[in-house]
Amino acid sequence: MEKIILYGSKYGSSRKYAEMLSASCNIKTISYEQASHLENMDKIIYIGSLYAGGVFGLSKFLRRFTIKDHQQFFLITVGLADPNIEENRIHLRQTLRKQYGHDFFERSNIFHLRGSIDYQQLSFKDKTLMTLLYKSLSKKPADRLSTEDRALIETYDKKVDFIDYDALRPIIREIQI
Ligand SMILES: Cc1cc2nc3c(=O)[nH]c(=O)nc-3n(C[C@H](O)[C@H](O)[C@H](O)COP(=O)(O)O)c2cc1C
Repeated sequence: MEKIILYGSKYGSSRKYAEMLSASCNIKTISYEQASHLENMDKIIYIGSLYAGGVFGLSKFLRRFTIKDHQQFFLITVGLADPNIEENRIHLRQTLRKQYGHDFFERSNIFHLRGSIDYQQLSFKDKTLMTLLYKSLSKKPADRLSTEDRALIETYDKKVDFIDYDALRPIIREIQI
């Protein structure tokens, strides 16, 4: 059975998960930008980081490739919000369904992982976006903040690493079936 792991990563968290998954399952991993000739693949695993609710590189990828009926597609998101909190998971899934369409959402096996951030490493554009978001959230009354908003406020301008390779276990089981 042919399998490939693609990653969409700006600062390395998704790439690290992809490399660990690749080593654990013995499946080749490459950036989504290098993907080609996927028609022979039975399982395509896409690990992508969340940027304003979207998965990094996924729209570009889906413009280049159509997932065939015989192919299983795994979508693994990596973000700062804790996916073990139900409120975050529900919000994230609603956003993914809206952004990539109901059919794509329903045919994908979806998982969520937690990533990392180091504000010192952010590009000027990303830092500016986060600062604007932080400032607008800071003005909201505390009881109107979601857990995702709180996570952003708590980690603002810091270096935090929530990467947890143990969280790959259920994904590894599913991929190997
Ligand atoms: C501009 C910007 C927007 C982000 N948007 C989200 C988001 O919508 N949801 C989330 O959980 N994390 C969000 N994050 C956090 C990233 O998903 C997290 O840092 C991730 O680990 C980055 O992955 P990478 O190192 O592979 O690029 C955002 C980070 C930045 C800089």
